[in-house]
Amino acid sequence: MVLRMNQAQQLDELMICRLNGERKAVEPCTIAIFGASGDLTARKLIPALYHLQKEKQMPTEYRIIGVARREKTDASWREELRGALDEFSRTKPVDEVEWKEFSQRVFYCRGDLADAATYANLAQTMANSSDPAVRGNSLFYLATSPSQFAEVAKRLNAAGLLSKDPGPGWQRLVVEKPFGHDLESARALNRELTHYAREQQIFRIDHYLGKETVQNILMFRFSNAIFERLWNRESIDHVQLTVSEKLGVGQRGGYYEEAGALRDMVQNHLLQVLALVAMEPPVSLEAESIRDEKVKLLKSIRPLQSGDVVRQVVRGQYFAGNVDGQTRPGYRQEAKVRADSNVETYVALELFIDNWRWSGVPFYLRTGKNLPISTSEVRIQFRPTPNVLFAAQCGPKLDPNALVLRLQPDEGISLRFNGKVPGTSEQVRPVRMHFSYDAEFGAYTPEAYERLLLEAIAGDATLFIRRDEVEAAWQIADGIQKAWDGKPLSNREFYAAGTWGPVAADDLLAREGHAWREPVVVNGENKGLAVKRT
Ligand code: BG6
Repeated sequence: MVLRMNQAQQLDELMICRLNGERKAVEPCTIAIFGASGDLTARKLIPALYHLQKEKQMPTEYRIIGVARREKTDASWREELRGALDEFSRTKPVDEVEWKEFSQRVFYCRGDLADAATYANLAQTMANSSDPAVRGNSLFYLATSPSQFAEVAKRLNAAGLLSKDPGPGWQRLVVEKPFGHDLESARALNRELTHYAREQQIFRIDHYLGKETVQNILMFRFSNAIFERLWNRESIDHVQLTVSEKLGVGQRGGYYEEAGALRDMVQNHLLQVLALVAMEPPVSLEAESIRDEKVKLLKSIRPLQSGDVVRQVVRGQYFAGNVDGQTRPGYRQEAKVRADSNVETYVALELFIDNWRWSGVPFYLRTGKNLPISTSEVRIQFRPTPNVLFAAQCGPKLDPNALVLRLQPDEGISLRFNGKVPGTSEQVRPVRMHFSYDAEFGAYTPEAYERLLLEAIAGDATLFIRRDEVEAAWQIADGIQKAWDGKPLSNREFYAAGTWGPVAADDLLAREGHAWREPVVVNGENKGLAVKRT
């Protein structure tokens, strides 16, 4: 794994420890994007590739070929992408010189993904490059509907573009989420893909792993002795992982009806973050060592039988309400959503990790749409002090220490501890220390897709999900989904848009004497401070 700290150049170079020496070289290649007319391509992939070009991180030679059904020419696709970049680029305005350089490497290949002629056409377009390395190294990005993943791999293979032994160059498949719908379909997809490519050629995306703050969890844990020593059942009371979103499902009702919050967020993003927070130290920073530990952790999560699901998992669905003063329709009124849908837009769960380090420590996870704020954070809640001195005097008012990893927005880390209120009184109250990415490293915040695309081009699989990992995560989600199937939502499982989910989510923690801590909004920003729900 390679650490990239562009802004850290402001610091003394001597203090920067580069892991694994220099990054793997990025070799000239062709990047073929299937699903080139889709939203992901316009909003994420093209802006990410443009920024990699702008920051001189792309290979010396490369070509991007978009494959999709709509009738377009190279010129019209370039024009369309330029419009998308003007809208979605994280840096504005678009740099004309970089765009010119970038756009001349962009080509379009029209065709139906189920038609062999499309792949012959793609092969021809790829062969047009005069550079043998660009011709020999290919990254196939599957940004299509998931039902087409296996078909595209099969047809690439039939056209001679993808094989397990690609000869002198390399061939890689990048596969978007959702990877399967449940354990069975994920296994089937794994079987199909590994029929045409070796596991090492398959890069399964979870864009949370591309986020700087998520990558930092490993660095933070294993390069700081003071925290790692406390990182266990002896010192930690419980962990809260919140990924809340202010948006509702919007135009994605059709997709969401098939997914729900469990499949859309918990099975992938939340379990990935949990794995990084709780895993054992890997034997090295190689992709396989890190992924081995993540899989071990996922397998140590106590499986939930249907009785456990009733006790430990809360689902919810929003009804009409207000978010930031804006009226929001209920989920059942959203476009392409059934009027009697039981799909969950909120999940809270209590998980236990049955291993030596974490035995008995509850991990509370929650995620939902149309919640009051958008934030992702991990709160490590330490055990309270012994019930003498201040704890005895202040009772529950003496807050236990907490470490909050603020994943987004206002990325950083906050440590909360108690201090004496100045003056003659004996009052003690919580104070906090903040580390902020912006303050320390400047406003350099690459999009997750920039990092992920770069790693896939470099062939480093650390930030991608391995076959056994995706299956272990589905095993957990499946147990929950099975317990819900065929059970309509009860009244207690609804929440008004703009609130923190169903009341049952509070009861889940209250049972153990805990409470969700909500990130406070300070000056319009989440500062990672915590207050109890009132
Ligand atoms: C996606 C989900 O994977 O992640 C979306 O499909 C969700 O429903 C999104 O909104 C959240 O990502 P982020 O990076 O905005 O936290």
